[in-house]
Amino acid sequence: MLMQITDLTPEDTTTIEQVALILLDCFGHLPSGYPTFEEALEEVHESFTSDYPEGGSASHRISRIAIDDSGTVLGWIGGIQQYDGNVWELHPLIVKSDCRGQGIGRLLVADLEVQARQRGGVTLWLGTDDEDGKTTLSGINLYPNVWKHIAAIKNLRQHPYEFYQKCGFVIVGVMPDANGLGKPDIYMAKQL
Ligand SMILES: CC(C)(COP(=O)(O)OP(=O)(O)OC[C@H]1O[C@@H](n2cnc3c(N)ncnc32)[C@H](O)[C@@H]1OP(=O)(O)O)[C@@H](O)C(=O)NCCC(=O)NCCS
Repeated sequence: MLMQITDLTPEDTTTIEQVALILLDCFGHLPSGYPTFEEALEEVHESFTSDYPEGGSASHRISRIAIDDSGTVLGWIGGIQQYDGNVWELHPLIVKSDCRGQGIGRLLVADLEVQARQRGGVTLWLGTDDEDGKTTLSGINLYPNVWKHIAAIKNLRQHPYEFYQKCGFVIVGVMPDANGLGKPDIYMAKQL
């Protein structure tokens, strides 16, 4: 299958709708996800704007898609500029469910790294939630020895933190109870 990674632009409405459907399919059931198509669509449109650092403009965001030779979207990745451009947050990343395990996620991350580095970024980071017991950090009280739990993390049910480790990210912290008691957000970063 031929695939290319290219910018997603606000004008490309049919492609944006495809991305929103992929989001809905994957995250529609999660409390922190997108319950409706409209909300998924809003998330895609947010990738063209910027809430921060200071109001911002489109240049503070990166929005890239993997498409096959017929224009079908296979995956989507976004980047948000922070810390005066030293740091970029990877948000979001999604690969279409029937296209996973073929290296597309890794290629999207590698592409975002190039994009962020070209804009002067030195660090790429992300938060990856565990809302439903996918790792040993979920379902417990992480206080007070948070780092003891992080050091002993195990992947119980295909949590993506391991995917990011394979892409060169390391765990730099955790926000306990980010999504409610026992539902942390795992912070990971990589030097560019
Ligand atoms: C996580 C996700 C983006 C990975 O994309 P992908 O295209 O399937 O990943 P790749 O095929 O590039 O995988 C690269 C490596 O990571 C591993 N990997 C991928 N997903 C993994 C997971 N959930 N758990 C453990 N390892 C995983 C692969 O086995 C592969 O390992 P290998 O190099 O040893 O063969 C994709 O599964 C996805 O969209 N998931 C749902 C949305 C999501 O969780 N997004 C991240 C939110 S933070």
